[in-house]
Amino acid sequence: MDQKLFSPIKIGTLTLRNRTVRSATHEGLADESGFYTAALTNILRQLAEGGVGLLISGHAFVSPEGRAGRFQAAADRDECIEHWKPALDAVHRAGGAIALQLAHAGGNAADPASAIGPSPYAASPNRPECREMTEDEIHALTKKFADAATRAKRAGFDAVQIHAAHGYLLSEFLSGSYNRRRDFYGETLANRSRFLLEVYDAVRKAVGPEFPILVKINSNDFTDDGLSTEECVAVCRKLEARGIDAIELSGGLPIAPSEYVPVRKAGEPPYYMAAATKLNAALSIPIILVGGIGRFETACHLLNSNHCDLVSFSRPLIREPGLIARWQNSGDRTPAKCIRCNGCFRPILLGRGFRCIKESRSEM
Ligand SMILES: Cc1cc2nc3c(=O)[nH]c(=O)nc-3n(C[C@H](O)[C@H](O)[C@H](O)COP(=O)(O)O)c2cc1C
Repeated sequence: MDQKLFSPIKIGTLTLRNRTVRSATHEGLADESGFYTAALTNILRQLAEGGVGLLISGHAFVSPEGRAGRFQAAADRDECIEHWKPALDAVHRAGGAIALQLAHAGGNAADPASAIGPSPYAASPNRPECREMTEDEIHALTKKFADAATRAKRAGFDAVQIHAAHGYLLSEFLSGSYNRRRDFYGETLANRSRFLLEVYDAVRKAVGPEFPILVKINSNDFTDDGLSTEECVAVCRKLEARGIDAIELSGGLPIAPSEYVPVRKAGEPPYYMAAATKLNAALSIPIILVGGIGRFETACHLLNSNHCDLVSFSRPLIREPGLIARWQNSGDRTPAKCIRCNGCFRPILLGRGFRCIKESRSEM
């Protein structure tokens, strides 16, 4: 049953030791400048030693006004490279592979004064509306994604992932819930997806044909005017035709009903299985599914029944960085201990980095 889960797979030119992924997870452990710290390096080393096939970094901002909050990692300056290197060495020494997630928080950015989006909107009731981007700004930011990808490649990351999910900037452009533009970047799906496709093209040109590029995208926004699964599949087809190496499927926006927000507490997992099945049937590149997967049997079933090609985990690996090795080597295949309470966010806000708040209590 586990043959597929623990067998190698290729994402473009990159061979992974197994089909498990640590989904991008903001660790909240960068310093005030956005540079990797020893604590962040240590977490990534533990995850790699814990057996995961591909590690995706927490979202890294490609431009200062796209920063989502304090303690977030940066990717907007060459100085990042020297701070990334100890983490990359640690992951590679442990036999792992690591991708840098390239992100811009759009209207959700930390500093409301400089927040930008496809159209003006207020990310919360006590914030001013973000400013609508001009076409020149879109072109300039496209280049910043490409510059950040070049840095990641120079530093020794094995891949990059473009963050186009969860209501961040590229997801805002894709979504009719945020994007009310009347120009080349709004209204039709072809226009709403233009920014993402241009970012992909620019990143590809910057890193060359051999370097793996992934995208994380919503399978559904779960809002009235938001991206639908059919639209997601259409955009992913275009990305595949242009040469993307893998797609990670997620879902939800911060403005979606609470049971459909990106980091759900409720709902029947795996959350986006039906969409993954459709996408996997439509595309031939690897499809990665994230959201609510915590059982060994579920992970195997998803792969063995061709719902997806890789399975991805965020919260379960906060609680147990060694979950994959536990399943693979120890004979203990009981479910992940994570109960999806979302308590792991709390220490981040206090500047202490993500941590499972249940762990210390239940294991004493
Ligand atoms: C603490 C925390 C930080 C997260 N940071 C990111 C991030 O930086 N980028 C991203 O795409 N998703 C992020 N996510 C969402 C996860 O990658 C994942 O999509 C979601 O948690 C569902 O997967 P799970 O049920 O395995 O946790 C974060 C989730 C958590 C709990």
